[in-house]
Amino acid sequence: MEKLQRPNNIHHQAFLCRDAEQTRWFYEDIMGFKLVAALDFESSPGSGEPLEYMHLFFEMGNGDHIAFFDIPDDVGEEKFGYTSGFDQHIAFEVETLEDLDNWKNHLNDKLGWASDPIDHDFVHSIYFYDPNGLALEITCRDKDYEKIMKEDQRKAHNNLKLWTEKTREKKESKVGSEKLQERGLDRKELIKRLKVSGLV
Ligand SMILES: [Fe+2]
Repeated sequence: MEKLQRPNNIHHQAFLCRDAEQTRWFYEDIMGFKLVAALDFESSPGSGEPLEYMHLFFEMGNGDHIAFFDIPDDVGEEKFGYTSGFDQHIAFEVETLEDLDNWKNHLNDKLGWASDPIDHDFVHSIYFYDPNGLALEITCRDKDYEKIMKEDQRKAHNNLKLWTEKTREKKESKVGSEKLQERGLDRKELIKRLKVSGLV
């Protein structure tokens, strides 16, 4: 790893959306992000196969983005159910607890629901959803964040080791030890699944 530079930040995370304009409403008008690209494509970037889609980029305060694909031929309500935050969620960060409270009131007012702040010790968070069913969070660092994280970091590798020991048997019974041991890509599976994107 010595010659590799650790990536700096998340340039973008991309998701499928139901509708470009509905998604623009949410990320610009409700979240205050800036629409910085709305690219209209006629073909798949890898394979060149015909594919009508729009790729949208919204910029947040530090220059990171959240991105979406609107693919009319692929749209279907089953893709936009509310996701469980345990499956995946995106957390945006604000600076103060007062900001967090203002966001809670704003989202409650505009969307009809946002959770009350939850105290996670190192951060305080509220939870809500975008129109595509993505679980979202706004989080604010606790005043003791540095101290708490320093302690968490000190214990992290050992905690992970203990966790693996504790849960290994159950995991093996669920997915098998071969999958747990995997440390590379399953090329055959990759080709099978991604042929359509033209990336492999
Ligand atoms: Fe989170």
